[in-house]
Amino acid sequence: MLACRSLSSPARQVLRSTAISSQWRLRSLQATRSYANHSGDEEVAKFKGTKGNDGKYTVTLIEGDGIGPEIAQSVKDIYTAAKVPIKWESVDVTPRLKDGKTVIPDEAIESVNRNYVALKGPLATPIGKGHVSLNLTLRRTFNLFANVRPCKSIAGYKTPYDNVDTVLIRENTEGEYSGIEHVVVDGVVQSIKLITRDACERVLRYAFQYAKTIGRTKVRAVHKATIMKMSDGLFLSIAREVAAEYPEIEFDAELLDNTCLKIVTDPLPYNDKVLVMPNLYGDILSDLCAGLIGGLGLTPSGNIGDECSIFEAVHGSAPDIAGKGLANPTALLLSSIMMLQHMGLSTHADQIQKAIFKVLAEGKTITGDLGGKAKTAEYAEAVIKAL
Ligand SMILES: NC(=O)c1ccc[n+]([C@@H]2O[C@H](COP(=O)([O-])OP(=O)(O)OC[C@H]3O[C@@H](n4cnc5c(N)ncnc54)[C@H](O)[C@@H]3O)[C@@H](O)[C@H]2O)c1
Repeated sequence: MLACRSLSSPARQVLRSTAISSQWRLRSLQATRSYANHSGDEEVAKFKGTKGNDGKYTVTLIEGDGIGPEIAQSVKDIYTAAKVPIKWESVDVTPRLKDGKTVIPDEAIESVNRNYVALKGPLATPIGKGHVSLNLTLRRTFNLFANVRPCKSIAGYKTPYDNVDTVLIRENTEGEYSGIEHVVVDGVVQSIKLITRDACERVLRYAFQYAKTIGRTKVRAVHKATIMKMSDGLFLSIAREVAAEYPEIEFDAELLDNTCLKIVTDPLPYNDKVLVMPNLYGDILSDLCAGLIGGLGLTPSGNIGDECSIFEAVHGSAPDIAGKGLANPTALLLSSIMMLQHMGLSTHADQIQKAIFKVLAEGKTITGDLGGKAKTAEYAEAVIKAL
């Protein structure tokens, strides 16, 4: 409000009219979403896929840009060697123009909807111009409401802390990333942080259920409700309501700045918790945690939706090394392990994960980003041998 008061009268009029148009956009945004009403016992985002006549699940594969195809090839080779009962359906998500709007091709959307699950390589995003981030579009298209980011230290890859094992869940559809921005008057822009009860409730309930699934006994909400009293205040009050449904899980809350300070000072006290938070905080804090274990080349993620889920490496398309066979496929591989666990294929997940960790711990056949000399394909070959 202070900002509004300091504006001249015409600016306030523009602000009022943009506020009205924003309300329409908020309503239409909410109208396009469908929220399932879950109770505490009902499993959120359960995998709905079934095996085909050949005994295999079909998984949509979005290879992505830059190093995407190279690291996707490693995953395919290792899965073939490990006889994982899935077959890949490759789709292209290069945006197309449809009725004057940039959209993801229908074939790609149909494939993910049909298979309920996808593995995705990095997609290049234009900065400050051009089409909207495809990653954001995918999250919105499939209503991928939770982003799960585990960060676990890797034996053999020395970082300032050993035994980091953080799990962070980020609200993925709204907050600061609602995409509602406008110019009020020349030189004044407004960006709206949208927080809804439905989206908070769902991601929070998922966080409690995920904690139970992975055997953690504590959930911590990370917020800034001291400053954003209404938006983060709503997130926090819903967190307390949802926590009451899970008496077996200990719940507490922590201010974001506090979490940042404490986690870089000593990450170990976070090893028994699942952290859950609004969108922007999760984006930043999850990369901070990735830094604790040696960077984005080792960090997997899952984007969880009610119907479909998309698993992806969190690093970008690495245009500087694309096509040179130097990329580290570990993050995409570990994302695919999360995918197998989500699909209930835990035996295959464990087998491949053990092989990855063995190769990394030995440190003989690792890629350049980890200080080694191996090419992408040589690393994949070493994992296959270790299976
Ligand atoms: N999830 C996604 O699809 C995603 C995420 C981040 C960035 N991006 C996009 O990727 C493009 C490039 O972004 P950037 O350069 O800021 O970040 P980046 O992650 O692509 O690269 C940062 C640095 O890390 C290295 N790196 C990244 N992944 C690696 C891997 N697997 N193995 C070895 N080294 C690796 C790169 O060589 C580079 O030096 C941009 O268009 C950006 O928008 C996409």
